[in-house]
Amino acid sequence: MSVDQLILEFDRALRTVLAPARSQRPIPGSAHPEAEMSEQERAHACGLMRVNHVGEVCAQALYQGQALTSRDPALRDALRGAAGEETEHLAWTEQRILELGGRKSLLNPLWYAGALSMGLIAGRLGDKWNLGFLAETERQVEAHLDSHLRHLPEQDLRSREVVEQMRIDEIRHAETAVKLGAAELPEVVKRAMKLVAGIMTGTAYRV
Ligand SMILES: [Fe+2]
Ligand SMILES: [Fe+2]
Repeated sequence: MSVDQLILEFDRALRTVLAPARSQRPIPGSAHPEAEMSEQERAHACGLMRVNHVGEVCAQALYQGQALTSRDPALRDALRGAAGEETEHLAWTEQRILELGGRKSLLNPLWYAGALSMGLIAGRLGDKWNLGFLAETERQVEAHLDSHLRHLPEQDLRSREVVEQMRIDEIRHAETAVKLGAAELPEVVKRAMKLVAGIMTGTAYRV
């Protein structure tokens, strides 16, 4: 990797963790007025959106890991679209946390570093395993968003529409990874990933 590229990647990492993300698409749900919610409902919605934001910070790191380790420029190009949508998800969830009066996870630098290490490890195993890891992550995120749609306050349409659009995008991202040649991960790896994700979401909900 050239020094220029290294600087570029480092800059991307810093921006993910520190700077507000931008969205090309209009933010889903923004046509709805802010819903009436009890203190408790608002805090719950905020916790769930913070979990989603952490997921998107990790997605940034995973796609960056993919771009850093893949030897195939065509593959990197093919994944650029998905990575761009992840940046939008980052912007949407961040915006929603602010609207709900909350703050982002204090542990974001840690989540980012953890996900990037995982991505780099997967990347060393080669593109098909790296894509397999990406596809499985997207599937687990989708399952996770499904559960959020069951738990978010019914009336919080601004949060719900963000989560719904993210879910549609994540399904497409998993399909893209499969189309590009993702290997199916062994069951034990999938289970380990779920375990780690469980710890992460439990923590991110609170801090
Ligand atoms: Fe996403
Ligand atoms: Fe995704």
